Amino acid sequence: MTPLSYPCRKDFTPLGGVFFRYLRANNYTAVSDIIIAIDGYSACGKSTLARDLASHLGYTYIDTGAMYRAVTLYFLDHQVDLSDAQAVMKALDSIRIRFQPASDGAMATFLNGQNVEDEIRSMRVSGTVSEVAALSAVRRAMVREQQEMGMQKRVVLDGRDIGTVVFPQAELKIFLTADFEERLRRRFEELRRGGSQQALSSEEVANNLRKRDHIDSTRADSPLRQAQDAKRLDNTTLDRESQLELVLKWVRELTG
Ligand code: DC
Repeated sequence: MTPLSYPCRKDFTPLGGVFFRYLRANNYTAVSDIIIAIDGYSACGKSTLARDLASHLGYTYIDTGAMYRAVTLYFLDHQVDLSDAQAVMKALDSIRIRFQPASDGAMATFLNGQNVEDEIRSMRVSGTVSEVAALSAVRRAMVREQQEMGMQKRVVLDGRDIGTVVFPQAELKIFLTADFEERLRRRFEELRRGGSQQALSSEEVANNLRKRDHIDSTRADSPLRQAQDAKRLDNTTLDRESQLELVLKWVRELTG
């Protein structure tokens, strides 16, 4: 039987399904069905960790940054004026974002049926996404979608407000950090992998990171904050495997 995060779980285990239904009806959580929330600044490796965890646990990965990026791409392509509240609302009504397998089988972000996975990682989108993500109307729409997607649990979400706003009740919250130089190196790598044709200077990418850090953490609506009960993880010198191992240990501690 699935282990439960309940103090007396051994006493109750023999009741099996009946007990499960009782727990669910009373809002207790079977801890193998948890929500993992990962927050942190740009290019800290949140999506790498989230992907690794999701594939290890058989969970669904929800890249909330990709959703803000897809909205930004739509706004740029349709020249939506960010200061025009009505235009923003109208545009939001026309946007449908889905995560589904692309032709190569890898999961990708689809905007109104189009695979936009690479385009949303471009500097064109990165240059504006923080302004778009600071709009309350955009945040309301995205948070609603994210809460719906994660309602059934067994999800890993990464972003800026997951542990504080989207799922403050998430069983495991992680606040990821890394030194600025290391984040810059990772961002370059991400751009290169995404096939960026543009020759970008280190200064351009660094300025974009600084600007986004500033906007993401100082905006009025849901600024980036470490949730009080989040575990802080600095992965500057951790390799991917050690990072995953450490977080899986936290998951095991939770799930018994
Ligand atoms: O994680 P990322 O760099 O792909 O995110 C892109 C932008 O979206 C980032 O600058 C801040 C914003 N964002 C947000 O405000 N809230 C989230 N939950 C995720 C991303």
